[in-house]
Amino acid sequence: MNTAARPRILIARAIFPEVVEKLSQHFEVEANPSDELWPRDELARRLQGKQGVFTTGGERIDAALLAQCPELKICANMAVGYNNFDLAAMTAAGVLGTNAPDVLTETTADMGFALLMAAARRVTESEHFLRAGKWDRWAYDMLIGQDVYGATLGILGMGRIGRAIARRGALGFNMPVIYHNRSRLPAEAEAEVRARYVSKDELLRQSDHLVLVVPYSAESHHAIGAAELAQMKPTATLVNIGRGGVVDDAALAQALLDKRIAAAGLDVFEGEPKLNPALLKCSNVVLTPHIGSATVPTRMAMAGLAADNLIGYLTTGKALTPLNPEVIGQR
Ligand code: DGY
Repeated sequence: MNTAARPRILIARAIFPEVVEKLSQHFEVEANPSDELWPRDELARRLQGKQGVFTTGGERIDAALLAQCPELKICANMAVGYNNFDLAAMTAAGVLGTNAPDVLTETTADMGFALLMAAARRVTESEHFLRAGKWDRWAYDMLIGQDVYGATLGILGMGRIGRAIARRGALGFNMPVIYHNRSRLPAEAEAEVRARYVSKDELLRQSDHLVLVVPYSAESHHAIGAAELAQMKPTATLVNIGRGGVVDDAALAQALLDKRIAAAGLDVFEGEPKLNPALLKCSNVVLTPHIGSATVPTRMAMAGLAADNLIGYLTTGKALTPLNPEVIGQR
């Protein structure tokens, strides 16, 4: 192939060398192997003359950036979430956005369950206790927690990952499953995951363990705050594997310190990678640094899907997982 005619792309963060290699077979690639975090003006500068960008979920793509990058045609996110995209601005500029759904569903559901179990059974707290040399005797109430098997599992946000969590709870742990979602699932889908639709208030009141799998938006901002936490059982566990900002982290830290709820497991945070320092003071919270999809096969599949979207769109005009397909064919 005549390399001068090949499209040019930017890979905004370090990714698997195999994926860089695959993209290099189709494009002139500018990669970021040292994984520098480019400020916005630097990102815009590096996007000059590029038709595509491989993003990882942290790079804000909005009207101001797009105005500086008139040649850009596609932004391919290596994430199912795309709250880093201003999709309306991208559509207005004729720029396609793609995400990476499906390939991370089961892995992320596993992580939700890991956090649920670790929080309910005080696993990390127990390890800290043991490592600190505090274990010197048996006690009937030492690090006593809550049951998972047979307890009521609540799910807020019943997309693919929510349904995968419901399946684990219902089939593996004999849990009655209740859920709330913007729209109710069809009856067959509810039956498949043995889940019952309830109002948000009922979900808060009835759940022994409540898992949040909600994307971030203006509508979902602080969907769980002080008022919602006040409705939950004092024995309840709250897990957030959706997005930071869905929970009011300051209100949650206060509820955990006051033992208003028993425990929490958090993989996502408001303003991450920074987190509310009050959370670090709570012994009854399990904290992980947004690793919901972090297994080798899943991250490979996510990167591969983002790469295939770039290759498909810039070489044949077709993408596998377009978010705004109405722009296809416009430019
Ligand atoms: C996603 O894909 O949105 C997950 O949060 C991993 O980044």
